[in-house]
Amino acid sequence: MTKKNEKIKRHVKEHYAEVAKGTSCCDVSTCCGASSRASYAKMIGYSDEELKGLPDSVTGTVAGCGNPTALADLREGEVILDLGSGGGIDAFLAAKKVGPKGKVIGVDMTEEMIQLAKKNAERMKIENVEFRLGEIENLPVEDRTVDVIISNCVINLSQDKDKVFSEAFRVLRPGGRMLISDMVTQGELPDEIREDPEMWAACVAGALDEKVYLQKIMNAGFEKVEILARNGFMEMVSSLKVRAYKPS
Ligand SMILES: C[S@@+](CC[C@H](N)C(=O)[O-])C[C@H]1O[C@@H](n2cnc3c(N)ncnc32)[C@H](O)[C@@H]1O
Repeated sequence: MTKKNEKIKRHVKEHYAEVAKGTSCCDVSTCCGASSRASYAKMIGYSDEELKGLPDSVTGTVAGCGNPTALADLREGEVILDLGSGGGIDAFLAAKKVGPKGKVIGVDMTEEMIQLAKKNAERMKIENVEFRLGEIENLPVEDRTVDVIISNCVINLSQDKDKVFSEAFRVLRPGGRMLISDMVTQGELPDEIREDPEMWAACVAGALDEKVYLQKIMNAGFEKVEILARNGFMEMVSSLKVRAYKPS
């Protein structure tokens, strides 16, 4: 990894450690703008019903750009993997849907986020979730053990998206599906944005052109790659909801 890449990764980690500790410089310095975390969560697609059962320590660190579990059609007994689980909101919503016979694994590279998610699970007495410290480019998960992968505004933060998608493919069982909410661009962002660590942490600089992004998913072996929704965020940048399947 080059010094420049290391600097970006360090900055992203430090930024999300601050979000986890509730000491981020800008209250809603997440993937999209909103006046408070609660309105932010609603703005990106969580329903009142979903939010009302969650403590502030979960809703207060929401940092996604969509609501992937609402699109994943999760079934009882399924094993779910959340890439970049943050404070755990999607893992907890998924845990409810898959029930005690199912299981959710959240993976995140930021120690503070993992600690927060574990505390949140304890506080809510949710037992079918497990949070693992690790990188989505090197998933701490066995081959072909996962039914559904979800991810919410995380893959844009990776500097090796090919590796992320090939790892996702490896851990999914044949016929498994992936539901991603992520930032993409329509065209190439200027270099001064692409090289700015702050813009990386804000889920903008690492966003790829939509066509390139979808091609990377297909290159990893996924099929039936489908855009479920696209919501504009700022000029040239949107939040994309994508579904893809690992062939049976
Ligand atoms: C924008 S936040 C989204 C958190 C969560 N998915 C949500 O919707 O609230 C991005 C999260 O991804 C984690 N992350 C970023 N890059 C990662 C990587 N390469 N591997 C694992 N986790 C990563 C960060 O630590 C942070 O918790």
